[in-house]
Amino acid sequence: MAKVSIIGAGMTGSTTAHWLAEREIADVVLVDIIEGMPQGKALDLTEAMPVIGKDAHIFGSNDYADTKGSDIVIITAGLPRKPGMSRDDLLTTNAKIVADVARKTLAQSPDAVFIVLTNPLDVMTYLTWKVTGLPSHRVVGQAGILDSARMRAFVAMETGVSVENIHCYVLGGHGDDMVPLTRHSNIAGVPLNQYLPKEKLDAIVARTRKGGGEIVGLLKKGSAFYAPSAALAQMAEAILKDKHLVVPATSYLDGEYGMHDIFIGVPTVLGRKGVEKVIEYELNDEEMAAFRKSAEHVQSNVAKLTEFGLL
Ligand code: APR
Repeated sequence: MAKVSIIGAGMTGSTTAHWLAEREIADVVLVDIIEGMPQGKALDLTEAMPVIGKDAHIFGSNDYADTKGSDIVIITAGLPRKPGMSRDDLLTTNAKIVADVARKTLAQSPDAVFIVLTNPLDVMTYLTWKVTGLPSHRVVGQAGILDSARMRAFVAMETGVSVENIHCYVLGGHGDDMVPLTRHSNIAGVPLNQYLPKEKLDAIVARTRKGGGEIVGLLKKGSAFYAPSAALAQMAEAILKDKHLVVPATSYLDGEYGMHDIFIGVPTVLGRKGVEKVIEYELNDEEMAAFRKSAEHVQSNVAKLTEFGLL
């Protein structure tokens, strides 16, 4: 069986292990700095396997040696937001954690594809790429599946149509200036604006942009983890099964959309080697301006990493 190591066995990491084990597509190693916690969660999940009839092996550890030879490394280590915090407020703390994790996992699994989740996501994905020195196609961040899923869920709530028929695409950085593409989104091929009046669509776009904050505000402690981990599992599955699945993901741009040297949310083809291709949508002036604004935000955060000596 393939091997997936998840660094950070907190809410998102352990729930990702749950989704992966349930799909029986990989053995999972959960690593955390907290002693006993990854071991306890892995044992608990192991004891669930007979009930659901799956033969995935889940192992918890505080030692990176146990991640050796992973096909995929997923990084969820770091602090989540508290109410009132933006993802950017986590920048310096999480950069130190992610850089350390990236170095240690690369040493054990030089051939792995790295999927990053820790926030601020676009910057942490860039940092992981820099620290590991890997080819850019082997590093990708998860944000777009989640942001698009939030939009899809809100459209489903409003229309009552099955989520399976609802296709929404959110591009750009994983922040409040993300770019929900209403023009490209549809319900079973019918453009969203034919289903919903403008004010309803605008409200869905606004709620999508603040989707993470809405959950942080409700939970009070910690941030969303079910939907982010489901998205991670979908990406890992696409890679392991070499599906050539098109998903919005945080990928490296080398000229696409006229941008260079940036990781940002774009439609991405995922397969066994990681990112196979970035798809370029035809964006109109307004969409392109919003995408550029979001990219400028990501780049200013990357500049802060340099300024603080973290890159
Ligand atoms: N090495 C390994 N694990 C670490 C390290 C480290 N250096 N530093 C922190 N961790 C672990 C913590 O011990 C914790 O168990 O990372 C885990 C994070 O889990 P949670 O606090 O439950 O946070 P979670 O909700 O999973 O979010 C993790 O994902 O969505 C983002 O903004 C979120 O950046 C945050 C990350």
